[in-house]
Amino acid sequence: MKTYKIAVIPGDGIGTEVVDAGVEALKALAARDGTFAFHFDHFDWGGEYYKKHGRMMPENGRDAIRHHDAILFGSAGHPDIPDHITLWGLRLAICQPFDQYANVRPTRILPGVVSPLRGVSGPELDWVIVRENSEGEYAGVGGRVHQGLPEEAATDVSIMTRAGVTRIMRFAFRLAQGRPRKLLTVVTKSNAQRHAMVMWDEIASEVAREFPDVTWDKMLVDAMTMRMTLKPQTLDTIVASNLHADILSDLAAALAGSLGIAPTANLNPERVFPSMFEPIHGSAFDIMGKGVANPVGTFWSAVMMLEHLGEKAAAARLMKAVERVTADPALHTPDLGGTANTRKVTDAVIGSIAAENA
Ligand code: IPM
Ligand code: MG
Repeated sequence: MKTYKIAVIPGDGIGTEVVDAGVEALKALAARDGTFAFHFDHFDWGGEYYKKHGRMMPENGRDAIRHHDAILFGSAGHPDIPDHITLWGLRLAICQPFDQYANVRPTRILPGVVSPLRGVSGPELDWVIVRENSEGEYAGVGGRVHQGLPEEAATDVSIMTRAGVTRIMRFAFRLAQGRPRKLLTVVTKSNAQRHAMVMWDEIASEVAREFPDVTWDKMLVDAMTMRMTLKPQTLDTIVASNLHADILSDLAAALAGSLGIAPTANLNPERVFPSMFEPIHGSAFDIMGKGVANPVGTFWSAVMMLEHLGEKAAAARLMKAVERVTADPALHTPDLGGTANTRKVTDAVIGSIAAENA
């Protein structure tokens, strides 16, 4: 029997609560399926670890997880620690060296969930956002001089490389090709940003020639926010730079009903390094410890993890269980306007996994 080694990094805030729920669901799936198992290794990295050790993860932390089959991540972010330290010290410290350059963010309006868009339901909003996850505005290049003085200067330099743009375009075109509509929208801002974004557009056209069966178009990021809101049914697969996709994916999550349901996969498509799966929502310290966090974002991320591991049947089973649960308003957490708690939703998903006829 195949045993998958999963590195579990709950992180901060509600990360622990939702990741515990995710692990329970994965255990239930393995038990139900009987053909594979999980071995979970837990790592207490994050804000509390930082308070004790002065860093978010140990110096050799990546070596401890390098050979795992996948990483299940909660969230990084702590009210006592600046956000750029928690981000660069943990999440980006894993994503970038592990070359998880393709960040995939599916968005759908799940059954029972109401979109804030008038008259828009399931079939009209079914997107996958592909976020460039290794460079661009998150390259970390820049500096500050003359700190605190009137002449202080600071830069954050966005770096785009031909190799980086080409591989994310190929990934996005391939993903679009595998979806029924074979439709890709390339998000850009090449009117104002006249160097790297112009190269971005050129490489999109070049890669498009490798995928003649994919219909594609180009959209300026500002206009894209309007199109997502007013004509959601005209979109399918979307590719955007690191920062553009960061912003658009929050909009997408809100339009699909809640940030609490949105999943992410940070993929190293070549599988040289493990890929990492996490809910999009942050650490949400305001609701931490109350047991009301929505575990659906983590469940859906676990679905993406199972797909990546090649366990398609288990992935489909978990997604079905999630959809059954969202379809019942009595099982909605407060972010969806309900009163259910994490425990109740998790029990319902596990019950559905166990009960379902294979
Ligand atoms: C995301 C998040 C992160 C990002 C935050 C937590 C730094 O918003 O995954 O979208 O900006 O990448
Ligand atoms: Mg974001």
